[in-house]
Amino acid sequence: MNEFVNRYDELSLLEEEWGRPGGRFIVVHGRRRIGKTRLIKEFTKNKTGIFYVAGDSNSKIQLNEFKDAAATFFRDDFLRSIDISSWKMMFDYLEKVISTKEERIYLWMDEFSYLLKNDKTIVSSLQIFIDHKEIKTYFSILNAIAYGNTKPSEIASFVGINAREIYPYLDLLINYGILFQGFPGSPEVVVP
Ligand SMILES: Nc1ncnc2c1ncn2[C@@H]1O[C@H](COP(=O)(O)OP(=O)(O)OP(=O)(O)O)[C@@H](O)[C@H]1O
Ligand SMILES: [Mg+2]
Repeated sequence: MNEFVNRYDELSLLEEEWGRPGGRFIVVHGRRRIGKTRLIKEFTKNKTGIFYVAGDSNSKIQLNEFKDAAATFFRDDFLRSIDISSWKMMFDYLEKVISTKEERIYLWMDEFSYLLKNDKTIVSSLQIFIDHKEIKTYFSILNAIAYGNTKPSEIASFVGINAREIYPYLDLLINYGILFQGFPGSPEVVVP
């Protein structure tokens, strides 16, 4: 392969996201041959995860190929032996197995349009998968508060998140009445 050039801004943006806690969902789009696949190859070369390139086939073949890639990565012969009949089933499996892993992993689905063309349910299944990861961050925040952390900076460090990134999460919890601002202008939050 020729030497990787340029695209250092894109690489550092990806690295930044990789360093953040919780699941991150990143869409890479651009015209044909612009270097999307190459960028992700470069980004993932020293990381572990699943790099799946969908072919222009049918959804049964695509699901089966993806399942095999997951079975190989997780060394799960049982997964390989069973029939996965929907993306929902596939992502449910991933959600369970990923939550048992300490290590950060990537899951790259290249040529996503080929997947979408054959089975539109992949979008809602993926959305559920991503939302569940987001919910885990909210639980970690509530856990941090249950352990007596009330200042956003304390909560952020307990959760392992950047101090400035905690505010959108806290705002949503406050908006839903799950948390209250301590008193006007107070930087503390309390459980009602
Ligand atoms: N940053 C780069 N440095 C060097 N070569 C590159 C770079 N980006 C892309 N290339 C080369 O350009 C060609 C096209 O790149 P790539 O296949 O990544 O494009 P793509 O956006 O994924 O295209 P497609 O939409 O067809 O999937 C490849 O031969 C790749 O090796
Ligand atoms: Mg490509």
